[in-house]
Amino acid sequence: MEKTFVMLKPDAVQRGLVGRITARMEQKGLKLLAVKMLQVDRELAAEHYSEHKGKPFYEELVRFITSGPVIAMVWEGKNAVAVVRRIMGSTDPQEAALGTIRGDYALFTGNNVVHGSDSPASAQREIALFFSAEEIVSYKKTDQRWLYGQQDE
Ligand code: RTP
Ligand code: MG
Repeated sequence: MEKTFVMLKPDAVQRGLVGRITARMEQKGLKLLAVKMLQVDRELAAEHYSEHKGKPFYEELVRFITSGPVIAMVWEGKNAVAVVRRIMGSTDPQEAALGTIRGDYALFTGNNVVHGSDSPASAQREIALFFSAEEIVSYKKTDQRWLYGQQDE
């Protein structure tokens, strides 16, 4: 089953949105495999956002993501990467549809409350960056056959 990396950004923590954002992934039926709170330092921020190095918003992005604690999570489910991107909504919260996390909880691109991997390859890279293999818990969740019919995973 596909895994994706999700990070609740410093604005989500400071604004008390952790429970509400996490609930959206849970309600969809995704399975939580790992979660931790941490303070991202400049080195980890640079590694995580290496694809954006040199872009005009890069410095602001690093400053923002290191500005307070974040919640890092691994979620699993069928097409989890794409499903989470749809739950998050467009990068610019002004464009994001209502009903999405960014559409409902944010106003500005620089402070868009949540990160989700943009491809399965990014997910693998980002999960390995934030979690050790032992931190990713393997367990049976009783709702799976109700979510996937007979295709019990
Ligand atoms: P994320 O990586 O945080 O999940 O966001 P994303 O895939 O939707 O967007 P991405 O293109 O990867 O950009 C990463 C983050 O950089 C900030 N950004 N600012 N001012 C700008 O034009 C601009 N563009 C991007 C956003 O905070 C975005 O989430
Ligand atoms: Mg991105």
